[in-house]
Amino acid sequence: MSLKIGKIAFFSLFRRNENDVKSIYDTFSDLMIIGTGGSFLNFGYWDGKTVDPLQAQLNLTHKLAKFGSFLESDNILDVGSGYCAPALSWLMKYPLLKVISINISGRQLLTAKNNIRKDEWGLYTNFKMNFNDDFDNRLSLLESTSTLLPIMSESMDKIVAFESAQHFKPLKKFVMESNRVLKESGLLVIAIPIISKENNFNYFSELLNLGILKFTWASEHYTLDSIKNILSCCGFSIQEVELIGAKVYIPLADYFIKNRERLFELITSRYPKFFEQILNSSILKMKSASQSGFIDYALIRSAKVIADE
Ligand SMILES: C[S@@+](CC[C@H](N)C(=O)[O-])C[C@H]1O[C@@H](n2cnc3c(N)ncnc32)[C@H](O)[C@@H]1O
Repeated sequence: MSLKIGKIAFFSLFRRNENDVKSIYDTFSDLMIIGTGGSFLNFGYWDGKTVDPLQAQLNLTHKLAKFGSFLESDNILDVGSGYCAPALSWLMKYPLLKVISINISGRQLLTAKNNIRKDEWGLYTNFKMNFNDDFDNRLSLLESTSTLLPIMSESMDKIVAFESAQHFKPLKKFVMESNRVLKESGLLVIAIPIISKENNFNYFSELLNLGILKFTWASEHYTLDSIKNILSCCGFSIQEVELIGAKVYIPLADYFIKNRERLFELITSRYPKFFEQILNSSILKMKSASQSGFIDYALIRSAKVIADE
C-alpha cells in the first residue's frame, strides 16, 4: 500500500497525464470520503452557518447552480462529475433538469451507478433523500475525457466543470469542445482553484508559496487571466467572475486542524501514517497560501458568442 501511494505521489509530481489523474482519484478519493462522510469531491464553501465539510460541499454545489443560472428544464453536461453527488443534488432541486455526467474514471461512475440503483446514495452522503424520482431518465453517465466530448453539437444549455477543469489537458481543447456542444448563447460554468495573478508566479515562487501543496495539488495551476484568455480565444464572453477562496480554504483547514485527532484514527486505518503527515502539512500550507492571497478559488460564467454570419 505504502509503495503504491509513493508511486502515485511521484507520478503526480512529474507526469500528471490522464492516467495519472485517474490513479490519483482512484487511490485518494476515499480519503475525502473519510474526511467528509459524503461522496462529494470538492473543497466546499463555508458561510456563517456551516458546521462541517459535507454541508460546505452541498453549499458550494447549490451556489454553483445559482451562479450558473440553472433553469428548471435545462440540459446540463457535468464534466468531471466525481461520484455524481453534485448532479444528484441538482436533479433533486430542479425536478425537470436533465444531466449528462462525464468522467474519465469509470470506477467513480460505476460506484455512483451502484449507489443510485441500491437507493443507497442518501446513506452514502449522510443526507436523507427522496428516491421516488426518475433518475434513470434524467441522469446519464458517460466515461470519457473532457477533451473529446461524445455529445452532439449544439445540444446542451449549460456545461459545468465543477472543480475539474484544472485537470483537463489541454484546457483549451475542452473549451473548444464546449463551444461546439453548447446551444446558441449556452453557458459554460467553471469552479476552479487558481493561483493569484499578482504573485507573478513561476516554478520557484510556486514552490516557495505552496510548499508541499505544489505536489499534492495534482493539477495545473492557472491564473484567472490565463483562463479568461482561453475562454475569449475560444468564442466565449465572460459574464461574471466571483472569487470565493477566503470562504473555501481557510475554514476547511481550520476544521481539519480542530478535528485532526479524530481524523488521524480514520485516515491511518486506511492509509500509511506518513500520508496523514503529508496531508496535514498540505492543509497548513493551503491555509497560509490562501491567507497570503497566493491561491484563490474562482467561479466563472461565460456565454457562447454567436459568430457573425
Ligand atoms: C475534484 S473532483 C470533482 C468532482 C465533482 N465535480 C464533485 O464536486 O464532487 C475532479 C473530477 O474530475 C475528473 N476528471 C479529471 N480529469 C478528467 C478528464 N480529463 N476528463 C473528465 N473527467 C476528469 C476526476 O475523475 C474527478 O471525478
